[in-house]
Amino acid sequence: MLEKIGELGETAVRTIEEATDLETLRELRLRYLGKKGQLTALLRRMGELAPDRRPAAGKRANALRKRLEELLGRKEAALQDAFAGSAREKERIDVTLPGAPFNLGRKHPLTLVLEEITAIFTGLGFQVARGPEIESDYYNFEALNLPPDHPARDMHDSFYFTPQILLRTHTSPVQVRVMEKQAPRLPVRIIAPGKVYRRDDDATHSPMFHQVEGLAVDRGVTFADLKGTLLVFAREMFDQGQRIRLRPSFFPFTEPSAEVDIACIICGGKGCRVCGQSGWLEILGCGMVHPRVLEISGYDPEDVTGFAFGMGVERIAMLKYGIDDLRLLFSNNLRFLRQFR
Ligand code: DAH
Repeated sequence: MLEKIGELGETAVRTIEEATDLETLRELRLRYLGKKGQLTALLRRMGELAPDRRPAAGKRANALRKRLEELLGRKEAALQDAFAGSAREKERIDVTLPGAPFNLGRKHPLTLVLEEITAIFTGLGFQVARGPEIESDYYNFEALNLPPDHPARDMHDSFYFTPQILLRTHTSPVQVRVMEKQAPRLPVRIIAPGKVYRRDDDATHSPMFHQVEGLAVDRGVTFADLKGTLLVFAREMFDQGQRIRLRPSFFPFTEPSAEVDIACIICGGKGCRVCGQSGWLEILGCGMVHPRVLEISGYDPEDVTGFAFGMGVERIAMLKYGIDDLRLLFSNNLRFLRQFR
């Protein structure tokens, strides 16, 4: 019996020492110390020994059990450490590797300019209003004092769905839609940014472009309010020293009407190629809201007055960023678009 215990001890110690993974170690524990394990079997057979030999054999077997337990425990700890180490090694981050590219998007220059225009006017107390791009002849023309055969319609050839439904040619119809809804409450103070459409296509005209309309109606609104508002706008948008100039003009929905120029931002007013040697650049049309338009929209022209303006956003963007071809804004050329932020 003592011999058998000795032999078992030798093999057990050797196989345990040689184990290289936790799975094998678990199997070995079962093989020797489990319920059906080899050492357990030996211990069970103690009873077969002569009573005087039992104590020595029992002592030996128990000592071996203790030794194997210890050995298994130590080996298990060692294997666990080694495993954790190699897992850590696999996870290690090589900080010298080049990173994965992360492409950040940018806002389109027109979006940037639209946001800036909106910020300036909301800062002056205007609210943002919107109207439909598919518009009726009534709002696009009639209600703006442009009856069916009015010659000013020539400049607004559009895309028609039916003789009465078209893609709006300007944002001015939003004036009427807003007043109709709000009348007779005062004041009306809105800007209406959005897309407009015309049958035009060259280096300075696109069949789709953007406008921002402005409208202020209240008791006692004057032409001076219009001029002051536009001067503040030009200075916020371009330069705090910016000068503006108003030239008499005609629009059916304003009376009087004016065209607004800013001093050329390239030459500062001296005259250059961009401003055609005039020193001035046109940026928008404006005027005092025509009494007929106020009346049609539900306001009493004897009681209130208003001013309105309409500007082309592409034109402002081209001036602000020095873009010489409008079509660049719509060609989705990333080398162009990446320059703006
Ligand atoms: N709607 C005009 C156009 O597209 C621009 C305009 C001129 C708007 C004068 C106005 C204004 O509100 O008062 O040509």
